[in-house]
Amino acid sequence: MKTVKIIRLPQLFEERGNLTFIESNEHIPFHVKRAHWIYDVPGGEYRGSHAYKKNREFIIALSGSFDVILHDGKTEKKYSLNRSYFGLYVPHLIWRSMDNFSTNALALVLSSECYNEEDYIWDFDKFLKLVQ
Ligand code: TYD
Repeated sequence: MKTVKIIRLPQLFEERGNLTFIESNEHIPFHVKRAHWIYDVPGGEYRGSHAYKKNREFIIALSGSFDVILHDGKTEKKYSLNRSYFGLYVPHLIWRSMDNFSTNALALVLSSECYNEEDYIWDFDKFLKLVQ
C-alpha cells in the first residue's frame, strides 16, 4: 500500500503542556477544505466502509484509540492510531473502515474536498472493479 502513510506531526514540549499543529500542503500533502470528527462511538461500532473517488483524508486520534482498516484493491492493512501527533494519510480510491474505538476516542478527519455524496463508493465490488 505505497501511497498510504503514517505522518508524524511536529511536537512542541513545554512545561505549560504540549502542542502539535498541521498546515495544509506542509505536513500533509493536500489543502484542507473540511474537518469533521467522530466521538461517542458505542463499543463494538464501526465507521466508514466506503471509498472516495476524489477525496483524500488525514486521520488523527486526538484522544483514545481506534483502528483504520484500509484496502487498496489488492491488500488489506490495519493501522492502529493512539497518539495525537501521528496521523494516517489516506489517498482517494482506498476502501476504508474504522473500528475498535476506545472509550472517549476522538477521531479528527481532515479532508481535501468539501462533502459530496457523489464522491462516495459504497459497493466493495464496484470499488474493486474501479481500481483493478
Ligand atoms: P460518513 O462519511 O459515512 O461517515 P463515516 O465514514 O464516519 O461512517 O458520513 C455519515 C453521515 O454524515 C452521512 O449521512 C453524510 C454526513 N456527513 C456530512 O453531512 N458532512 C460531512 O462532512 C461528513 C463527513 C458526513
